[in-house]
Amino acid sequence: MKAGIVLLPGDGIGPEVARAAHRVLTEIARLGGHEFTFTTQLIGGCSIDASGVALTPEVLDSCKKADAVLLGAVGGPRWDNPQAAVRPEQGLLALRKGLSLYANLRPVKPHPLLLDATPLKPAHVKDVDVMVVRELTGGLYFGTPRGRDEVDGLVRAFDTMEYYEYEIKRVVELAFQLAGGRRKKVTSVDKANILETSRLWRQTAIDVAKGFPDVTLEHMLVDTASMRLISSPAAFDVLVTENMFGDILTDEASVLAGSMGLLPSASIGEGGPGVYEPIHGSAPDIAGKGSANPVGAILSAALLLRHSLHLGDEAEAVERAVDRAIADGFRTADIRGTHGTEEVTEAVVKRITLR
Ligand code: IPM
Ligand code: MG
Repeated sequence: MKAGIVLLPGDGIGPEVARAAHRVLTEIARLGGHEFTFTTQLIGGCSIDASGVALTPEVLDSCKKADAVLLGAVGGPRWDNPQAAVRPEQGLLALRKGLSLYANLRPVKPHPLLLDATPLKPAHVKDVDVMVVRELTGGLYFGTPRGRDEVDGLVRAFDTMEYYEYEIKRVVELAFQLAGGRRKKVTSVDKANILETSRLWRQTAIDVAKGFPDVTLEHMLVDTASMRLISSPAAFDVLVTENMFGDILTDEASVLAGSMGLLPSASIGEGGPGVYEPIHGSAPDIAGKGSANPVGAILSAALLLRHSLHLGDEAEAVERAVDRAIADGFRTADIRGTHGTEEVTEAVVKRITLR
């Protein structure tokens, strides 16, 4: 098949891991006889340096026209001043909103050979297989009004948590669909004892559940969920939650897999191009050293093949190759290995076989 893919390497280790994903996609195209066209564009701090904004309308436009977008990471100390009017993260939010990517899928499944990489007991995490579905274009990240002002001489800042029912419905529906193909359980996480938005969330989840009689719905308060993710992580199947809760819980959940460097994510919307990115950040401390773990980005490329290009066999081929490379001992420093980004990438590329 023919596909146009926009690469947004971004900042820090972003370019290193995006190169790895690019390499893997190129190999898949070669083996599968596909024609992938890649265009590399700026996002985040590098875009601020070049044009003053974290995502230009031109780049957003080229993403809209693509079949899929592969992103590295954005941000770094150079652009971290809290007073700054433009911040790298704005590029990511503009991209998510601009492409209407309302659902962020973050699968967390520890690799059987890397159980010793987590700080938790291996027996405790070995059966973990959770798919976190994070709402991505609503809530505190986008709600208005937001700002800073002065009331009676006192400085104040405020953000707004807001949700339309339809925004909750579509993401919860997706969670139920995914659960239908898995262990048939949805945990909807909210703070319904306190927040109005959470009460609407919970009510909507109950309504959606009626359309999926074979899937069990449970509700969990977010504070309880943060505890249960550590105390009984294997009990979760699909966890669906609002934007900010999902941001926090997915960093927590990544500990179950041993390293953030291993985990991919897919941001999808209503049929348009999806954005695929590792869940780790730009890791400025190791940027440019060639030591970043490329696995999160490579597995994100697999999700891109599966969800945006509908090449399920190719996606599995990439996932199998990653498993084999890990089984053969290829590991970066974050999982107590000594291999560099390129060594691990080449090890994966060599092990890709299409059935
Ligand atoms: C993530 C990140 C982003 C977020 C930042 C970089 C804006 O933490 O994708 O989880 O908060 O969504
Ligand atoms: Mg985050």
